[in-house]
Amino acid sequence: MSLDKKYIDQFLNVTSKAAIASYHFVGKKDKIAADQAAVDAMRSELNKISMTGEIVIGEGSLDEAPMLFTGEILGLKNGPKLDIAVDPLEGTNFAANNLPGSLSVIAVSEKGNLLKAPETYMHKIATAKVEKGLIDLDYSIKKNIENLADSKNTNPSNLTACILDRPRHKKIIDELLDLNVKIKLISDGDVAGALLVTKPTYNVDIYLGIGGGPEGVLAAAALNAYNCHFQGKFIFDNENDISEAKRMGINDFNKKYEINEIIKGDSIFCATAITDTMNIKGVMKKGDYIFDTETLVTYTNQGNKFLGIKKNQIQFDNSR
Ligand code: FBP
Repeated sequence: MSLDKKYIDQFLNVTSKAAIASYHFVGKKDKIAADQAAVDAMRSELNKISMTGEIVIGEGSLDEAPMLFTGEILGLKNGPKLDIAVDPLEGTNFAANNLPGSLSVIAVSEKGNLLKAPETYMHKIATAKVEKGLIDLDYSIKKNIENLADSKNTNPSNLTACILDRPRHKKIIDELLDLNVKIKLISDGDVAGALLVTKPTYNVDIYLGIGGGPEGVLAAAALNAYNCHFQGKFIFDNENDISEAKRMGINDFNKKYEINEIIKGDSIFCATAITDTMNIKGVMKKGDYIFDTETLVTYTNQGNKFLGIKKNQIQFDNSR
């Protein structure tokens, strides 16, 4: 079985409507309302699709998230069984403050092909395609940087590393600076941060550091389509997270996940910009209930791929 092409437009419609719903709250300093609007729109649109779709990465467990909770079954329940990972509003601060970087994101695979991930932090590393064993989460920063520089026939001083600007990253940032690597610090949004390794024009050679686990899985889905390298390791440092992980079938708490253990087979990834992100334009209002959206789409089907930005004009009442 394969993931039919017809689903591309349907999932693109889902993230576009979630982005438009959230756009209503852009710059209103209310990240909860912006997120809720995206969640509501996403859930309602997912329920119109012919599928039996299980949320494997959502807004949390049922007790903390009444909508899009992990394990929720969505769709008309008359189509293929799919796994769905969502981040209806990635970059809540960006949307609340009307800053570039907010996205509405979804990744879809056939049942059993997308990692069911708990909502913990994750160590991540991403680069463009590299030789097996060249870049590894278990290596030191120095070894990874020197290996990457050697493979590109250049010096570490010509490399750029992207990392979330967090106190927890002080040691990594100091090491990168000691190696003369250029740093690109991002205040939020590590799905988009990791995707900066997909094209040389973004000028990022390596993405690394600790961010959200769900965001790691979503980024991996797109990075896989771009043939990039990604590894992630969840951080389980409290009883709650450990029992949640066990419930999801994870027993090895130190496991390093390779990209092909996170996402397998055919997949669709859609990221609609709410505010401008990378080279994707944010939602643009064109008239009453008419909006232009731009969505980064990746689609892999039995080895065939579509990678690109799709522009759409969408009619949607986002004032509710
Ligand atoms: P939200 O959209 O949920 O606010 O997440 C933004 C984000 O920057 C993610 O991209 C990233 O994975 C995570 O927060 C990092 O978490 P923290 O802010 O706790 O360091």
